[in-house]
Amino acid sequence: MCGIIGYTGPKNAVAVVIEGLKRLEYRGYDSAGVAFAQKGKIKTVRSVGKIGRLEDILGDRQQYRKSGAVIGHTRWATHGGPSKRNAHPHKSGSIAVVHNGIIENYLPLKKKLKDAGYEFLSDTDTEVICHLINHRLREFHFEDAVRAAVGELKGAYALAIINGEEPEKIIGVRRDSPLVLGVGEGEFFLCSDASAFLAHTKKAVFLEDGEMAVITRGGYKVMRTDGKASGVKIPQSLPWSESMAEKNGYKHFMLKEIDEQPRAVADTIRGRILPGGDGINLEEFGLSDKGLKKIEKVLIVACGTSWHAGLAGRFMMEQMARMPAEVDIASEFKYRRPILKGNELFISISQSGETADTLAAQRLAKKAGLQTLAITNVVGSTAQREADAVFFTRSGPEIGVASTKTFTAQLCALYMLAVAVARAKGTIDRRTSKRLIQDLVELPGKIEDILNRKAEMEKIARRHFKKEHFLFLGRGISYPIALEGALKLKEISYIHAEGYPAGEMKHGPIALIDEEMPALFLLPLKSQFMEKIISNMQEVRSRNARVLLVTDGLVTDGQGPAANDEKPAVTGKESLTREQDGEFEAFPAEGVFRVPDANEFLLAALMAVPLQLLAYYIGVLRGCDVDQPRNLAKSVTVE
Ligand code: G6P
Repeated sequence: MCGIIGYTGPKNAVAVVIEGLKRLEYRGYDSAGVAFAQKGKIKTVRSVGKIGRLEDILGDRQQYRKSGAVIGHTRWATHGGPSKRNAHPHKSGSIAVVHNGIIENYLPLKKKLKDAGYEFLSDTDTEVICHLINHRLREFHFEDAVRAAVGELKGAYALAIINGEEPEKIIGVRRDSPLVLGVGEGEFFLCSDASAFLAHTKKAVFLEDGEMAVITRGGYKVMRTDGKASGVKIPQSLPWSESMAEKNGYKHFMLKEIDEQPRAVADTIRGRILPGGDGINLEEFGLSDKGLKKIEKVLIVACGTSWHAGLAGRFMMEQMARMPAEVDIASEFKYRRPILKGNELFISISQSGETADTLAAQRLAKKAGLQTLAITNVVGSTAQREADAVFFTRSGPEIGVASTKTFTAQLCALYMLAVAVARAKGTIDRRTSKRLIQDLVELPGKIEDILNRKAEMEKIARRHFKKEHFLFLGRGISYPIALEGALKLKEISYIHAEGYPAGEMKHGPIALIDEEMPALFLLPLKSQFMEKIISNMQEVRSRNARVLLVTDGLVTDGQGPAANDEKPAVTGKESLTREQDGEFEAFPAEGVFRVPDANEFLLAALMAVPLQLLAYYIGVLRGCDVDQPRNLAKSVTVE
């Protein structure tokens, strides 16, 4: 995710900003830049690659000691590939802007500004912002021009803006993207996260959505962009070390990234739904309704967590679009000499877009003449560059080795594709498509609900973290989620964990079951498998195993009736209660986590979240390095 820092104060502002940008490096970036006023004009210096390169271009810092306020940025490409001209800051007249987030309506704004004579020099959405502010300066002073300009923006943004005419001032604005004000002695900062200024001050004001801050050497003020007054903003003292600040106060990137899922999902959906929720906007991906109609089969290829997303994607394609779909592990795909035909859509899924096996499979498909679509989180990655079309998940950089937020974003990408294919093929009607889209829009709020109750999962983890084996069981679309739950646990805690289709349990894994092996069931109550999964649960319980449940069913915390068998049942700490014709039946378990209600496709995404939390808490309780598990790499670029 991009990083922002702005500084005004008596120190060498360019030096302070460069040091601050280095503290933001952990977020991942592909280019960097700074802007400042020099001799009444705005000067920007930008470069692709590491900050060291930017420093080389800037040369001796001493020459900048008399500059006014400085803004700096590390960019992680979203609109437009990584290049010098797309790097921030962007400028227009006396205005320079750095931006984190996505401007949804940048295309119509761009058109309007071009008609008004503004020249665009980049492919970014950000460039509309500086032109808009510059345009408004014709009628307003700086602050009101910013206020008027942001009034036209739709989407998410954290902005830091300077004006060559008022060289000591920086204006910051926040909507759906974090911005924090650092308050020092005669010096002030505006940053995307506090780690950038902690070496100078620990006093901070966290801006709220819709707020605007103005900083000068003399002080700061915060107000709302809609003209209303903000409440009193007293700086708080941050009890953070610099390394904690990188993680925004979190102990681990993994938990931070788990918590970022509502935003990652919302950003992945943002701007991709047609007005009124009436379909998916396919233009961005280079796909059209006409093109989709011609597709006869979908081939999905990926590795690791992305492969699990692919398995769930197959379910969505088949169920919603009645589209034949195959899923392969990339390292197997090419060696089985697959029979590939035209009119098949090849989808590669790769968080990094650099996994060697996935790229090899994509190349093979392309060579065979298939249309290739890459679902990836990294703009400018090889998968993107080599594919015919691309669907970016917009999760921001994922630093924890174990994928979390990119997985849920991949599920959303596949869901949107399945809805689009289903609509193009006519397997769902307009009303159903609208309902499915509305369900997706509600997903971030539901994930938030789960995250607000993470203490419940921590409690379950405390009960079971000493176990050496775990079984994860699910059916239908919950099966890949069971696989993902098992993978997360083994990656993070080194516990032996297996994911299995619950119906297959009797064909082997049941032999392993005893009181030392917790079996975690994914139980969507409205699914066609509900009765069958409940039978599997009973089979496991009657062998004294510890049953854990993730369900959308009714959960009671009482001591439900023990399992109806002769052996003394494991006392349930919680139970799942089910009502049938006025009769209540309770299934005791050693831990039940309830997820909000959702359609079966999105329920799978919801169920993944408590499993990530379970792996995280167990890993922490066992003293494991959850962000960098032994022997694993974030991106596997060799075969
Ligand atoms: C590695 C990572 C996994 C990831 C897999 C595929 O094994 O540790 O977390 O799922 O690669 O990576 P990709 O970037 O292609 O999604």
